[in-house]
Amino acid sequence: MSQKKFWFGKKKQVDSQSDLTEDNIPRHVAIIMDGNGRWARRRGLPRVAGHHSGMKNVKKITIAADDIGVEILTLYAFSTENWKRPQDEVDYLMSLPQEFFPLEIEELIEKNVRIRMTGWKEGVPGHTLEAVENAIERTKHNTGLILNFAFNYGSRKEMTEAMRAMVRDVQLGKLKPEDITEEEYSNRLQTSGLPDPDLLIRTSGELRISNFMLWQLAYTELWFTDLYWPEFSENHFFEAIREYQNRVRRYGGL
Ligand code: IPE
Ligand code: IPE
Ligand code: MG
Repeated sequence: MSQKKFWFGKKKQVDSQSDLTEDNIPRHVAIIMDGNGRWARRRGLPRVAGHHSGMKNVKKITIAADDIGVEILTLYAFSTENWKRPQDEVDYLMSLPQEFFPLEIEELIEKNVRIRMTGWKEGVPGHTLEAVENAIERTKHNTGLILNFAFNYGSRKEMTEAMRAMVRDVQLGKLKPEDITEEEYSNRLQTSGLPDPDLLIRTSGELRISNFMLWQLAYTELWFTDLYWPEFSENHFFEAIREYQNRVRRYGGL
């Protein structure tokens, strides 16, 4: 991986970052940012207050990831199943990009972060899309960390659509059935062009994947914490990275 950053020499260093091994940083970290609602309830606040607090946590973890040299940070922000929630909660979640990007974009640009979205535009309100597309446009030439929001994303829909695209190509004679490969399939997924996640973090104590990157997680290291997303700090992030560094990835070999 690229050694573009010399974070060991940085002045402002979070304690638990200093013992990370520089040459074994996961390239792609994905996070299921869960537990906003329960975090709020525990404080006697409405669920949306938890979403707001969760949003505030995004920049902090993005910068922590960037500091140690992570190349891609994918954040699961809204699933294709989250539309089932009460309309007022959905509306609030759809308003967050408009709040988040104007607030944080300058600093993200300063950090050379590039915004990307994985998911479907269909069904997402125009004002939400506008905020996301504006951020993508403004950061499209940046060459640093890719901050990839999985927004209106669901893995089964993604895989079904990839399958449909492949069948169509076969019907059109562009692809022979015998030429269907893992690579051809991957290229038709929303994550085309991105390496698979090396590390998946899920907050909130739930031990499940919830329709997130089922194909891409085939050999991803999984790390779960009981902490709710709004209380997940840089040091917790580095703790996950440290544990990742102690794992042996065998990919079925020895
Ligand atoms: C995660 O927090 C954010 C989204 C799913 C949008 P939740 O809203 O799922 O919070 P809990 O799991 O109900 O506590
Ligand atoms: C997963 O969390 C989706 C996001 C974090 C965006 P959910 O809260 O929707 O997952 P379940 O319903 O507990 O499986
Ligand atoms: Mg949840």
